[in-house]
Amino acid sequence: MENKRTKNDMYYPSDEIVSKATVKEYEKRYQESIKDREGFWAKEAETLDWYKRWDKVLDDSNKPFYKWFTGGKTNIIHNAIDRHLKTATRNKLALIWEGEPGDVRTFSYHALDREVSKFTNVLKAMGVKKGEIVTLYMPQIPELIIAMLACAKIGAVHSVVYGGFSVEALAERIEDANSRVLITADGGFRRGKPTRLKEIANEAMKRSPTIEVCITVRRTGKEDCFMETDRDFWWHELMGMPIASPYCETEVMDAEDTLFILYTSGTTGKPKGVVHTHGGYAVYTASTFRYVFDIKPEDRWWCAADPGWITGHSYIVYGPLICGATIMSYEGAPNHPYPNRWWSMIEKYGINILYTSPTAIRGLMRFGSSWVEKHNLDSLRLLGSVGEPINPEAWRWYYEVVGKNRCPIMDTWWQTETGGFMITPLPITPLKPGSATKPFFGNEMAVVDDKGNELPPGEEGTLVIKNPWPGMARNILNDPDRYIEKYWKAYEKQGWYLAGDSARMDEDGYFWIIGRMDDVLKVSGYRLGSAEIESALVSHPAVTEAAAIGLPDELRGNAIHAFVILKDKFSPGKELEKELKEHVVSEIGPIAKPQEIIFTDTLPKTRSGKIMRRVLKAQALGQDPGDITTLED
Ligand code: WT7
Repeated sequence: MENKRTKNDMYYPSDEIVSKATVKEYEKRYQESIKDREGFWAKEAETLDWYKRWDKVLDDSNKPFYKWFTGGKTNIIHNAIDRHLKTATRNKLALIWEGEPGDVRTFSYHALDREVSKFTNVLKAMGVKKGEIVTLYMPQIPELIIAMLACAKIGAVHSVVYGGFSVEALAERIEDANSRVLITADGGFRRGKPTRLKEIANEAMKRSPTIEVCITVRRTGKEDCFMETDRDFWWHELMGMPIASPYCETEVMDAEDTLFILYTSGTTGKPKGVVHTHGGYAVYTASTFRYVFDIKPEDRWWCAADPGWITGHSYIVYGPLICGATIMSYEGAPNHPYPNRWWSMIEKYGINILYTSPTAIRGLMRFGSSWVEKHNLDSLRLLGSVGEPINPEAWRWYYEVVGKNRCPIMDTWWQTETGGFMITPLPITPLKPGSATKPFFGNEMAVVDDKGNELPPGEEGTLVIKNPWPGMARNILNDPDRYIEKYWKAYEKQGWYLAGDSARMDEDGYFWIIGRMDDVLKVSGYRLGSAEIESALVSHPAVTEAAAIGLPDELRGNAIHAFVILKDKFSPGKELEKELKEHVVSEIGPIAKPQEIIFTDTLPKTRSGKIMRRVLKAQALGQDPGDITTLED
């Protein structure tokens, strides 16, 4: 079918989409929302339940440590679960989950509440207190979601470490959070094979001795896990005990109390524990979700991310549950056992909205359209993309082959630190493939130069956010100086937030994200610091120095290339190359595996000894390295 709604490469929504859309007009509402930002957010907050209404919408008396809805009393669970138990939503499916082997589990809101409450009582029996940070290291199974919600319900802070991370990454995060309790699983299924999470957790607990209690879900049942007496407990055994009563009061929290921390990569080797709160985060995730994905009571929503990333926190768990939506979640690989796995699940469950990453789209596109065409995807209404810029080719395939020219693509730009969508279309927005379009309500964004001058359309510059918003990160755990330094120092005078991305704005005011400006890499949409990969390499006995860069890769966006200087006794070779790659995998995880290891004798450095990664990158790409006056040699 020829798509008649395309003009100058602009894709217009159909009348049907427009007639269904909650927001029919963007520009006017946007102008109103930025003219009276606090008024806009107060109205949004009113759609949620509060134990006590806030005194002040925005407290900016201690910039950049903004506070939202101060004086307000709530708990995100009060909105994500409790209030639904009083309406017909109680009987609605909250979660449809499918495991990679094909096992299916479903939870109504009522059932979810029971499971969450039972687990809160287990946590309480283990002495977990309000404010304590509990680390979760789990596969994509319902227990991960249940454990997150249970922590929130009693006011404990969850720190989810993505199940694809390995020993060092986990140990470091446990230690920084000073966690006493770890929740994990024996493993999960990925490409038909069980992963071995408990084994990694055991190693990590050896390296960071703060854990006193470790609760393990039996998911695969395949591995003999070492369980230490008095420290290790099985989830199912605890949940079967009388302590696990299905009743529990939800803890009353201040709006600004911490809901979770989530580690993300920055420019140094040490990951940042980004802090989010109960009040503002709830308002922000719910509003963005409702407006952008236009969720209807009859919808089935599938965000194909892992709950262990911010995408999963905000748009598998909290935003959708607050809106009373039905969530789909899937454990395994998109192409297992065949490349039609996703499409068959969309058909089987009648999914209406699919939200995923450009990497996943490119990966599935590789297998060809016939896998998609085997299935009836008529239930789809909207599509979404997140994590990295989507190249127009992948966009068109997604739009034409998956969405059959009917489903607008919401290309949402945001970050772990923003909590929710910042630049995003609405269903009514005319789309340009590759552009995340315009700011969400309440936000003013700009592309500026070093001094903060706004750049004319078409020119590449630094992306900044000019205002506070309720979903913003409040701090970095244990490191307020770093919070100021990384996000607020560059445009201190103007009070702007530095996103770390470069971007362009076009004549129509559409934003085009180009990529990270710092030493953060986006590989398959995953965020990694060059320094993290380098420190993993240097921890190998053969390596004295290393520099990691990202080079363009058709499938993954970027691929890691690592330059390595060896110690005297060691000589380069295929064997060592393989060993170093595996070493990075065992320290950080498979997502950080370098595609290339390049042995070298020197690295370009500044006079102060900092590695100039951009020079390496320019060299590898055969480009002009730009200003190299600070280069030592
Ligand atoms: C970085 C943040 C937000 C959830 C997943 C990633 C890149 C994110 C887009 C997009 C172009 C994007 C940016 C950003 N990014 N979404 N739609 N178009 N780039 O969260 O791991 O904190 O990474 O992801 O570079 O800074 P994250």
